[in-house]
Amino acid sequence: MTISATATEYGPGNETGPAPRLTVIGTGYLGATHAICMAVLGYDVLGVDVDPDKIERLASGEVPFFEPGLPELLAKALDSGRLRFTTSFAEAGAFGDVHFICVGTPQQKGSYAADLTYVDAAVTELAGHIRGPALVVGKSTVPVGTAARLTELLHKTAPAGADAQLAWNPEFLREGYAVDDTLRPDRLVFGTTSAWAEERLRAAFAPVIAQGTPVVVTDLPTAELVKVAANSFLATKISYINAMAEVCEATGADVTGLATALSYDDRIGGRFLKPGLGFGGGCLPKDIRAFTHRAEELGVGQAVAFLREVDGINQRRRARTVDLVRELAGGALAGRRITALGAAFKPNSDDIRDAPALDVARTLHAAGALVTVVDPAAVPNARRAYPELTYATDALAAAAGSDVVVLLTEWAQFREIDPHVMGDVVAHRRIVDGRHALDSVQWRTAGWDYRALGRP
Ligand code: UDX
Repeated sequence: MTISATATEYGPGNETGPAPRLTVIGTGYLGATHAICMAVLGYDVLGVDVDPDKIERLASGEVPFFEPGLPELLAKALDSGRLRFTTSFAEAGAFGDVHFICVGTPQQKGSYAADLTYVDAAVTELAGHIRGPALVVGKSTVPVGTAARLTELLHKTAPAGADAQLAWNPEFLREGYAVDDTLRPDRLVFGTTSAWAEERLRAAFAPVIAQGTPVVVTDLPTAELVKVAANSFLATKISYINAMAEVCEATGADVTGLATALSYDDRIGGRFLKPGLGFGGGCLPKDIRAFTHRAEELGVGQAVAFLREVDGINQRRRARTVDLVRELAGGALAGRRITALGAAFKPNSDDIRDAPALDVARTLHAAGALVTVVDPAAVPNARRAYPELTYATDALAAAAGSDVVVLLTEWAQFREIDPHVMGDVVAHRRIVDGRHALDSVQWRTAGWDYRALGRP
């Protein structure tokens, strides 16, 4: 990956003055990636987290999660001397001109609402140490209206008062592509309330803007909404094609042919139109729920009521996958040996948050099946969360004596399995392709009973 411009070429000492010094509060998936990438782009960056273990690991060059390309960039950033880590908010306040808030906003327990505890705590802690003009930039996904509330909190808490300004800059990075999405985003969205805030943000993203990245400058609520609107659209697109799969199942039609035909219409397009087990992860499911909740609070619940159906369609795909496995197993699951290929919510990730794969594996296990879950990266996380399941990292070894194989996460190593080779180790050649990732003709020719959602 080559980046054509660096902060030093487009920021400091040029027309715009010195490049701002950046802090990144919260060094989870989003924050660590952002901190590392900004340092690689040439900024002086201080990563801040309340978890000393995370800070120590990052400072010693270890990325605490699985993300292709990121460990190499962390090494490069640390070598450059431009990236440091701390647990001290006092240090962050003294160091930074622009502070990015990158802490999590998970779903609240027992509610659809987003839990804003971490965002509030981060802004409060940081604000107490802001003594001069500084820009605090929210990146976390939050319910619309949060930025207005945080602005008041910031002005009230910061010794700098109204010289501490707030802006919103939603982040659209996808796990597995986090580095590229950060260095080469499709667009930058700046929610600001002053020309000064816009200028600070432009300075903080100068090398990215210099590549020609479109910048949308807007107000705070619009910037907050862009993120949830984008994720809602993506979730809706996935559930749309999965709803068509349900109709296909009732009619003998084939959803893969349907999706291909739809995808050639430029107005529809093929991305996020892949039918199967549906969406999971730390963003799409909780974001559409939090959006529904917030819209109801605002009295416009009806406008996004369809998102409940989007969620419902998505959940039904998991149940239908279990049904297909049961059908292939001869009508009952108790005592059947099932090889579940995949645990992560998508390939190239070790993230198991709301993972459809593990939901299916746990339901099969609860029905009495003997389930072995195979995943190249997510087994440690999955084992910690669900120790009751059996785990393996080698698909062929795990499939020995299996009654049904079910593909739940489309890792490349699963897509490349030779049906003849696997056919030699299983007890019965029966496979459910939960992700439409396998060549049905090839598997059927090799003697497998092949089933997939929405296909005859
Ligand atoms: C998503 C958004 O894409 C990103 O812009 C936002 O910042 C965070 O949320 P991510 O959660 O990393 O990113 O995953 P993504 O690649 O979007 O996939 C989400 C889920 O949808 C996965 O479980 C995937 O398997 C599923 N999916 C995706 C489908 O089922 N079908 C598709 O066609 C595409």
